[in-house]
Amino acid sequence: MLRLLVLLLLAHADGSLFLPPLEGKQGPEIALISVQGASSPVEGYKPAAEAIQKASPFKVWVGIPQYLFDLPELQFAAKVDDILQQMEKAGMKADHKVIMGHSLGAVGCQGYIAGKGQGKMDALVLTGAAVLRKYRNSTKFPPTLTLDGDLDGLLRITRQAEAYFHQVIKVGGADAPGMDRPVVLLEGVDHWSFSSGDRPSNVKKNDIQAEVTVEEGHAMIGEVIADYMSSLFGSDAEKAAAGAKIVEAVKKTGELVEPILAAMHLEGYHNLNPPCNSDYPTNPTCQYAKYPDKSLLPPAGPPKPMPPADCTCGSDWVANTAANMVAGFEKTPASQTKLVTKDAFHDVSDVRPFHLPHIFEPQPGTACSDPATCVINATTVSMPIYDWKDDFDVGLWPITASEFRTKFKSREALQQAAGLQDVNYTATDELNTEICKSINQAAYDWALKTASSKARDRFLKHGQPYVFVEDKKSGFGITGPTWIHDALSFTPSQDKKTVAVQSHYFPLKNKNLGDVSFVQTVGYHYCKLLSPARAMEWIYVDGLKEFYGTRDDQIQIVV
Ligand SMILES: *[C@@H]1O[C@H](CO)[C@@H](O)[C@H](O)[C@H]1NC(C)=O
Ligand SMILES: *[C@@H]1O[C@H](CO)[C@@H](O)[C@H](O)[C@H]1NC(C)=O
Ligand SMILES: *[C@@H]1O[C@H](CO)[C@@H](O)[C@H](O)[C@H]1NC(C)=O
Repeated sequence: MLRLLVLLLLAHADGSLFLPPLEGKQGPEIALISVQGASSPVEGYKPAAEAIQKASPFKVWVGIPQYLFDLPELQFAAKVDDILQQMEKAGMKADHKVIMGHSLGAVGCQGYIAGKGQGKMDALVLTGAAVLRKYRNSTKFPPTLTLDGDLDGLLRITRQAEAYFHQVIKVGGADAPGMDRPVVLLEGVDHWSFSSGDRPSNVKKNDIQAEVTVEEGHAMIGEVIADYMSSLFGSDAEKAAAGAKIVEAVKKTGELVEPILAAMHLEGYHNLNPPCNSDYPTNPTCQYAKYPDKSLLPPAGPPKPMPPADCTCGSDWVANTAANMVAGFEKTPASQTKLVTKDAFHDVSDVRPFHLPHIFEPQPGTACSDPATCVINATTVSMPIYDWKDDFDVGLWPITASEFRTKFKSREALQQAAGLQDVNYTATDELNTEICKSINQAAYDWALKTASSKARDRFLKHGQPYVFVEDKKSGFGITGPTWIHDALSFTPSQDKKTVAVQSHYFPLKNKNLGDVSFVQTVGYHYCKLLSPARAMEWIYVDGLKEFYGTRDDQIQIVV
């Protein structure tokens, strides 16, 4: 019995395997190390490795080390050396070394490249993964290919879009000379398409169904990785031809992530460009007027470091769409009134100094004499809320804002400023449970309209649509208005077929056309807003998992 156990343990400890190159291949000899994901058996990576060998014109050796307990962090460097030695013993004389990792294995590869493995590899391939944010500026990486599936339910497409923005768009586009970290998305491929066999439980729980067969997926993966190696290590002619194919694939990826990046820009997503601080303007295009620019306590002082000059001023969605919906000018004599709004990102609880929305023109205490020719110049304040779990940068949880805490001037205040008479606060704001709701519906409609037709059709067929319910009024607690912590809520219906979205609002009556001290809070309407990027992320990723995921509802394993 004990003997049997020892034998089993030994067998488990060394499941590492390698594949010698296929017969009849020419050109350079490549050592390709393929690092498994967490709890993902080594054997499962064989078919994709064989597809790479088949697609490449080169003599490709593939070594797939087995890590202790299948967890690739432990003994990383030793295992890499070990499998290289095994292949050398079997006759390998590698001209180039490439390391590739899947999922947590790709995280391990990056730690290795930035540490013990620095300079040892000629290329890095990340699959079901992305270059970690902390390594975005690292100069220690060799040329790096990021290869993912658009249906990856773990390393989500929104995170891939973020990678595309930094690695491709910011460096000048797919064919810019300095672009050495291409991002390629394969359509119909999910997280597990890079491996094979049974999904580990965490993958099962979170992945989205692939829309290509296992074999099709492996062939697609094999071709891109083979092209990538040819673009780096081939003869001049091979380099040019394969390089052009990679550029093509990166451009196609740009089309796939375009709707997502558009949504992230509308949000002002913090991991594209960092948010500005309107108290210390560094981006000359913001031109945000401060209000009240006063503090009862000593001001907090400048941020360290100062935001870069291309920081994001505020949310374009709030400034250009939401604010107009709060004003509700259409179907009133102010339908021709022009509202010019600027939004800034601030913590809505910040009082050093206070940050409040304001109407600058017409000046407080005055109103336009003719609504038809009126121009209102106003500001809003928004605080996007991000899930702290995304700080781990694993792509598993939503990365876009879960809500905007946005402070608007009220409909009453804006309509009065436009010159409308007898504005009824009870109707415009106090009992108006439609304002935040209608803005959130508009964010969702925009996302549905902007998503690719393929993503939209998939979501409408298999996803959990949002339905928007009336705003709920927040009250006062011991520490003031409860609105700040009354989160935008997402409640699945009993049959899970829909998800109800509800905002809290907090209205305050106007006084003297706003001509009062800032300590008197008058003429505000606060909302919890749905970010158009969160709606987009729901359509592409999270809204699919219930009915189009890979969860096996029949087998609930309770540990
Ligand atoms: C990376 O580099 C950019 C541009 O040089 C810079 O703005 C940014 O702060 C850097 N990020 C980190 C994390 O160092
Ligand atoms: C709006 O008003 C502020 C404060 O008076 C001013 O700085 C800004 O230039 C105005 N913006 C527009 C577009 O009129
Ligand atoms: C103001 O609106 C409320 C709610 O719609 C309504 O009950 C009330 O009669 C209105 N007041 C006036 C003066 O029209």
